[in-house]
Amino acid sequence: MPLSISDKDFKRLYQFIQSNYGINLSQKQQLISSRLSSTVEARGYTDFGPFVDKLLKDRDPQDMELVLNKLTTNYTFFMRETDHFQFFQKTILPDLVRRHQRDKVLAIWSAGCSSGEEPYNISIYIKEFLGPQAKDWDTRILATDISQNVLAKAKRGTYELPNSIPTEWKRKYFTHNSGDCYTVAPILRDNVIFQTFNLMDPIRFRRKFDVIFCRNVMIYFDQSTKDALVNRFHEATVPGGYDALFHAADQALYTVKRAGRGQFKFYDESMRQMFSAISPIDGDGEKESADNK
Ligand SMILES: C[S@@+](CC[C@H](N)C(=O)[O-])C[C@H]1O[C@@H](n2cnc3c(N)ncnc32)[C@H](O)[C@@H]1O
Repeated sequence: MPLSISDKDFKRLYQFIQSNYGINLSQKQQLISSRLSSTVEARGYTDFGPFVDKLLKDRDPQDMELVLNKLTTNYTFFMRETDHFQFFQKTILPDLVRRHQRDKVLAIWSAGCSSGEEPYNISIYIKEFLGPQAKDWDTRILATDISQNVLAKAKRGTYELPNSIPTEWKRKYFTHNSGDCYTVAPILRDNVIFQTFNLMDPIRFRRKFDVIFCRNVMIYFDQSTKDALVNRFHEATVPGGYDALFHAADQALYTVKRAGRGQFKFYDESMRQMFSAISPIDGDGEKESADNK
């Protein structure tokens, strides 16, 4: 039987998580008590009260890490929502590769990467697209998450692969362990850089990105957090005509092409609503639509 959490402790805890990590657990009292009960008991408490007191007062990094590992939802798998990958390969990559012919560098960020399947999968699509030229390109992907557990799994790179991954890809990009169990080969491992990053923090990476994947992450955030993050993502994309790719709760594909001084081209009309939250970066930018799907 999980320990029950009082309304007062629940409120203190979910408000703390929401303001520091964006995750909205205000309707998840039972989930919090079931996921954290064993931790609370293992600390010798018979009640959530003193556990929440200590967490909020000390903000001990190890305690925070443990709580985040328990409270984040990390569901992910290879070949998830392949229409996004196909859109990326057919529409975005040809454009980017053309524009980066000189420097041969693609800057891609998988934000909220969970256990790594998404960035490794993106990497496969890029390598397949570039073919033999791939060796001349720097296509390293930045992959970030707040949960240390999933990042550790991502770095290990060992997975049960689904049948939806073509046999040819298993042979090229993985080493076979046994049964369905495979480990990513160096050609993939070296192409993804995993880092801890809280999406509530200012985005201060060394470079701006050509593409940001942030799929199935913002669904856990409230509207104002989503709006603020969309704006920060937009500022973190390369100016002069690049793309950011998002995925929202309604399963629609949201893509924004940053066309220059505060101008946006929409690939999908349904994203208009979401991106109405973006304030023009250069002050007087104008939003325009395009049907270049
Ligand atoms: C459901 S997974 C999505 C994984 C992958 N993007 C996909 O679509 O399959 C959501 C991930 O977002 C991460 N996450 C939630 N809040 C975050 C935050 N504030 N900063 C960074 N990552 C966060 C969680 O830890 C979790 O691993």
